[in-house]
Amino acid sequence: SLELSLRPSKLQQYIGQDALKNNLSVFIEAAKMREEALDHVILHGPPGLGKTTLANIIAAEMNVNIKTTSGPAVERAGDLAAILSSLEPGDVLFIDEIHRLPRFVEEILYSAMEDFFIDVVIGQGDEARSIRIDLPPFTLVGATTRFGSLSAPLRDRFGVQLRLQYYDLDSLKLIIERTADIFEVAIPENSLDELARRSRGTPRIANRLLRRVRDFSMVKGEEAITLDTTNYALKVLEVDPEGLEPVDHKIMRTIIDTYGGGPVGLETVAVSIGEEVVTLNDVYEPYLIQRGFLERTPRGRKATAKSFEYFKNIDMD
Ligand code: ADE
Repeated sequence: SLELSLRPSKLQQYIGQDALKNNLSVFIEAAKMREEALDHVILHGPPGLGKTTLANIIAAEMNVNIKTTSGPAVERAGDLAAILSSLEPGDVLFIDEIHRLPRFVEEILYSAMEDFFIDVVIGQGDEARSIRIDLPPFTLVGATTRFGSLSAPLRDRFGVQLRLQYYDLDSLKLIIERTADIFEVAIPENSLDELARRSRGTPRIANRLLRRVRDFSMVKGEEAITLDTTNYALKVLEVDPEGLEPVDHKIMRTIIDTYGGGPVGLETVAVSIGEEVVTLNDVYEPYLIQRGFLERTPRGRKATAKSFEYFKNIDMD
């Protein structure tokens, strides 16, 4: 489908993350030369940067099948045993949000990853006994927004550890251009530039904003997405010139106006604005920090000088 084709299927078509891509291509090529399964891979970094896309690319480049699940979806040991025993030699098992695996499920993974077997307990009470199931060599690809909350034994079993970074403007422009091409819509340089600047270094956001801007442009009957329409659409979508959205504003306004710029505890900020601590920590804060609006200190969150300046001059409400 059109939506699916938005995701590049080969490493060659994948834009940005150059260092990561160069390293990964070597590991893939070497594994293929040895005719072995690729070492286990952990992909970590903020949401929307392409972890799932990369997992699928790894399988495609290795010419193997991929089975996909997620941490919260694997509730019982049997769920994991079932997926593991369905793998063929060299296959990729992709576990998204791997930090959310239940601990006892995670412990089953250790022997699976290290020695390609699992011990499954059959029966209960006096009848209970453990049987060993041998697995084919496979590649576990894990994805997480919280590398730090993986247990050390799990973390250490990933031979390849790859961190995704926010995309630079040139990469984002290429990604938006590619998507516009697939949508068969014309987008001039100035609109491209504006969209890229407001996409928070995140392809998922860039593609979402492009879809919405294209809607406004189409309804206006434009031949190409004009800068006027781009600016108008982003204004009504409440995306500010830095790509910050109402939640970002609420976070920074709380820290600046209510707590005098901080330091203030993350829990306090979360309660004030009615968001979950985990969402603030994993989704909103990383970009605010990367752009120099917010600091994490031992005593809590602090607004930077740049932040005071920016939020003095902007009013979205
Ligand atoms: N679409 C989303 N992310 C992409 C990327 N990194 N390269 C190419 N197309 C993409």
